[in-house]
Amino acid sequence: MAKAIRVPRKKGEEMRRKLSSSGILDEEYFPSHDEKYVYLPVKKSVPRYKLVEVEARKRELRKGFKEMLAEIVGESAEGVFSSYDIVGDIAVLEIPDNLRAKENEIADALLRTNGNIKVVLRKESGMEGEYRVRRFAFLAGEKRTETTYVEHGVRMRLDLAKVYFSPRLSHERGRIAEKVKPGETVLVMFAGVGPFALVIARKQRDAKVYGIELNPDAVKYFEENVKLNGMDGRVEAILGDVRKIIPERFAGVADRVLMPLPKSAEDFLDAALLAAKKGGIIHFYTFVNRKDGKGAAEKKVLEAGKRAGRKIQILESREVRPFSPSTVQIVVDFRADGGT
Ligand SMILES: C[S@@+](CC[C@H](N)C(=O)[O-])C[C@H]1O[C@@H](n2cnc3c(N)ncnc32)[C@H](O)[C@@H]1O
Repeated sequence: MAKAIRVPRKKGEEMRRKLSSSGILDEEYFPSHDEKYVYLPVKKSVPRYKLVEVEARKRELRKGFKEMLAEIVGESAEGVFSSYDIVGDIAVLEIPDNLRAKENEIADALLRTNGNIKVVLRKESGMEGEYRVRRFAFLAGEKRTETTYVEHGVRMRLDLAKVYFSPRLSHERGRIAEKVKPGETVLVMFAGVGPFALVIARKQRDAKVYGIELNPDAVKYFEENVKLNGMDGRVEAILGDVRKIIPERFAGVADRVLMPLPKSAEDFLDAALLAAKKGGIIHFYTFVNRKDGKGAAEKKVLEAGKRAGRKIQILESREVRPFSPSTVQIVVDFRADGGT
């Protein structure tokens, strides 16, 4: 039961607003009504209105995720568990061991406080194998790992359990796409479901973009995404190993080559240099020890240039993102002169 005032129905909404702005409306309960009157729950009496007792449905007060998390964890949530990735309508959590017993409660709280999230997963491994795919555990919501993700105006279908995907590279994709000039031929090695290729094609309509990818599931999504974004004829998804495809189709062809495989891209610098035409630009991604810094990444590039007999001009090196406390991901943008 709640205390309420009885107001004729046609004045109900105006009164509800007045009571709400003056803090008198008891928002813990829903208003109710009969044919003639609205019953507005109140915290105290209102002049000229008689207080009546009514059956009223209690509202579940909407709380934010952080607030609920603090209640579940029993201490300030700050520092215990701070971030999660959202890919489409899927949230991906990293749960520290000491919170594993509460992971389902945490996942439910995330579902309830964020209407756009339909699935909550926990990372169960790092990126594994040649295809760089992660394992996940279901925590809450619908049982699926497939979703649609939108970035820089590009829609992408993907399955997190079958392909590599990271929303954390969004800024980097935008940065590269801004550099592509009209008429360029761009080759994306290690293309995945196509995020770099599609974002480039979206920003630069007058570029021809090719993406080579080894994982058949990723290529299936890549092809679907080319269609989904109306990029047939401008973006081509190619299934295969860059080591085989580049000599066959791309020797001396590319104005720009992207190498987004930081774990082992240095092993493929020879293939990238083969694809880059004289004066072509290469974006090389790699992991280095934080203490060694950008110099370590540039050294890999300069050595590969020497091996290939190409003159290398480093244009820019920068940190893409921290990977672990001791490791950072670096991108080196460089021009490869000489060659064919
Ligand atoms: C780190 S992921 C990057 C995917 C994509 N560029 C993105 O940002 O989402 C690296 C990708 O390279 C692919 N790959 C690994 N070795 C390859 C090779 N030799 N030739 C072609 N693709 C390869 C993997 O299957 C994986 O999808």
